[in-house]
Amino acid sequence: MTDKGLSMEPYKGVRDFYPEDMAIFRYITDTMRQTAELFGYEEYGASVLEPSELYRGKSGDEIVNEQTYTFIDRGEREVTLRPEMTPTVSRMIAAMRRNLPMPIRWYSIPNLFRYEQPQRGRLREHWQLNCDLFGVNSVEGDAEVILLASSIMRAFGLTETDFVIRVNNRKIMNFIISDYLKLDDSIGKKISRIIDKKEKLPVAEFKKMVTSAIGEKDEILLTLLESKNFEEFVSHLPKNETLNIALQEMRTLIESLENKGVRNVQFDQTLMRGFDYYTGIVFEIFDTNPKNRRALFGGGRYDNLLSAFGVEPLSAVGFGMGDVTMRDVLETRGLLPKYKNPAYLAIIMAEQQCLPYASELTRKLRADNVAVSMDISGKKVGDQIKAADKKGIPFILVIGDDEVKSGNLKIKELATGVETVISDEKLSAFFKK
Ligand code: HAM
Repeated sequence: MTDKGLSMEPYKGVRDFYPEDMAIFRYITDTMRQTAELFGYEEYGASVLEPSELYRGKSGDEIVNEQTYTFIDRGEREVTLRPEMTPTVSRMIAAMRRNLPMPIRWYSIPNLFRYEQPQRGRLREHWQLNCDLFGVNSVEGDAEVILLASSIMRAFGLTETDFVIRVNNRKIMNFIISDYLKLDDSIGKKISRIIDKKEKLPVAEFKKMVTSAIGEKDEILLTLLESKNFEEFVSHLPKNETLNIALQEMRTLIESLENKGVRNVQFDQTLMRGFDYYTGIVFEIFDTNPKNRRALFGGGRYDNLLSAFGVEPLSAVGFGMGDVTMRDVLETRGLLPKYKNPAYLAIIMAEQQCLPYASELTRKLRADNVAVSMDISGKKVGDQIKAADKKGIPFILVIGDDEVKSGNLKIKELATGVETVISDEKLSAFFKK
């Protein structure tokens, strides 16, 4: 607190949603919801509070050690504000799996908390659409969730050239790290994190980091990472049965997506994704506009996460898509809808004695499902009209003694200035046209 009183700023890295922000948020989440449901995904939910152990050893070190909001509750339990939804949905499915008919298609739009350095596209609280498909162990499952992600982008009015879907396969990367380069676990993890940063680092610095992590094996890895496309990348790899299956999966996925009309897919051998639980394909969607450098979606296949709960593993594939990055993209491209006040009509009183008539009129309109905001401020008519205009209410109706007596009302559309005279009995019908 300063001399001037409490700070009016929200907590660092979180947002207040004023009505216009809330309308954008609703537009974004409604569009996500509609598209997920078009694909037959059912909505679920859970608490923001989770026992901290849910994330240890599953989400990845960076998230757990550096990015969680964790505290001890009054009963000495370690509690975390969820940083992601995947462990929660896996816990829920594990608990109920015998009662759930497969395959399971679920979605949710939770708020998540990560202690990150706030910057464009990254905040400490964001909402994230999660769509996950359980019980399908084939490339068709991977293709379905990527098609869904791409359909969400389309539902926002974006076209194929506006975004690119980058894909990789953990099996290929695991083969390179463990079998081909024969790196032990800790160096393997270290090099994965370095590869993940390739796009963000200057070329020389990246090479230096690779050499210092893996010594003379650097040349093999750098050649692979610098390959221009999938076939060139494959030509630098040895022949191996396990690897072959993973490479074939990649080809089948790209082909299946092409057949479904998704052609903006790019193989990207540097795409690692920070979570330890991924076991197969991983993918991210990026805006092609350089103003928005952050990933819009991230996801992949995680077939072993359920075994952490002591139950049989279950195939799973899904993604998360954040509201912050989506809003940035829609704003940059001018694709956000114009703000509309929920009220269709502002009833303005010229005299206070008109209140009983105005109240009854308002009651009738609402009973007929017309959203009305009645100005009871007692301010001058001109000020009431200005306020209605500023709030984005499309129509106004001024009520004075004449209107009360005659029942003839003059509705004005503020955007055009067009006035319509109508009897009070026909008012609801006017708005329902
Ligand atoms: P993620 O890549 O950490 O994946 O997040 C997915 C998306 O959430 C990102 O691409 C971004 O749009 C948004 N996002 C993440 N962190 C922030 C942040 N600090 N501020 C704003 N937006 C953010 C996951 O969370 C996985 N659990 C997704 C998943 C679901 N995998 C399988 N199923």
